[in-house]
Amino acid sequence: MIKGRDILVTGGAGYIGSHLVDSLVEGNRVTVLDNLSTGKIANIKHNMKKKGFKFIKGNAADFETVKKAAGKCDMIVHEAAVVGVKHYVENPLKVLLVNSSGMENVLEVARRIDAKVVFASTSEVYGKSGELPLSEDGDRLLGPTAIDRWCYSTSKAFDEHLCFGYYKRYALPVVILRYFNSYGPRADGSEYSGVIPIFINRILRNKPPQVHGDGKQTRCFTYISDTVGGTLRAMEEKKAVGEVINIGTDAETTILSLAEMIIRACGKGMKPQFIPYESFYGKSYEDIRRRVPAISKAKKLLGWEPKVNLEEGLERTVAWYRKVVD
Ligand SMILES: NC(=O)c1ccc[n+]([C@@H]2O[C@H](COP(=O)([O-])OP(=O)(O)OC[C@H]3O[C@@H](n4cnc5c(N)ncnc54)[C@H](O)[C@@H]3O)[C@@H](O)[C@H]2O)c1
Repeated sequence: MIKGRDILVTGGAGYIGSHLVDSLVEGNRVTVLDNLSTGKIANIKHNMKKKGFKFIKGNAADFETVKKAAGKCDMIVHEAAVVGVKHYVENPLKVLLVNSSGMENVLEVARRIDAKVVFASTSEVYGKSGELPLSEDGDRLLGPTAIDRWCYSTSKAFDEHLCFGYYKRYALPVVILRYFNSYGPRADGSEYSGVIPIFINRILRNKPPQVHGDGKQTRCFTYISDTVGGTLRAMEEKKAVGEVINIGTDAETTILSLAEMIIRACGKGMKPQFIPYESFYGKSYEDIRRRVPAISKAKKLLGWEPKVNLEEGLERTVAWYRKVVD
């Protein structure tokens, strides 16, 4: 249990950030810095009047803004980033520049006030590595720089290098978490978001889920309470400092069977529709066939492991979307 701390959560009005804030707000001072580009006030409004909670609308890519938001906090959880596959191919410059400057600002501010940094990195850092399960000290395998989809992976890997730079040069306590496909209530359902909210939104509106390619590509979907649980453990565990840790389930699911499970969870009788990758992302897109984390490090170092299976998590998620989809 984290208590009595002063914590800045960048991107705290976003999907993961807002759930994390919900777990922290009782017993801690929590400041959220978010520019609301993909985050929403609706995700945090229930906390607005709580003691010790503060929301600042601002840009993490601006140093003075981060400095002011951090005040004299003792920990910064850096969740703010330009996220979403469609952004990577539509605006790679924004992805690269915002994600790198936001990270640099967070680290430099943390160094000045002696705060610990927990950074939300991603499984995308592994690229298309086929060394499964993907382990934290394994190699990364990326495509050419002319393929825009690799810009997000590159921006987050650069951020990880920055974290290690500050850790080694200034002994700044940093923890790097590589999240694997998290899903749950509040995940943005627009075309910029992840596959689960996109599928649920379509199916609840009686449109078939669109499966890219043959649907045999797999992912490991992690329910939000597990993503947040791993983050909380990493925030308090001293042994996590200076480490990269995968946070995700190792239960693998094909996109096709995911679509079928969500159709069932929504109680509909439709069939998934297959569409070619190019029709959605253009020719410069490369998908990753399988992505499975090694989670032994998280288990050993954090004493954490995922608890919610996909069926149960989808049920809870669909129940939430039913309330918000008109
Ligand atoms: N959701 C996942 O499955 C997943 C997987 C791997 C990594 N991550 C990482 O976790 C973090 C949170 O992701 P999420 O899924 O909650 O996405 P999200 O889009 O809901 O959250 C990101 C938040 O950052 C805010 N933001 C973006 N740019 C900003 C800026 N310049 N200044 C201030 N705020 C800014 C957005 O408004 C949003 O609230 C991100 O760093 C993402 O890269 C997420």
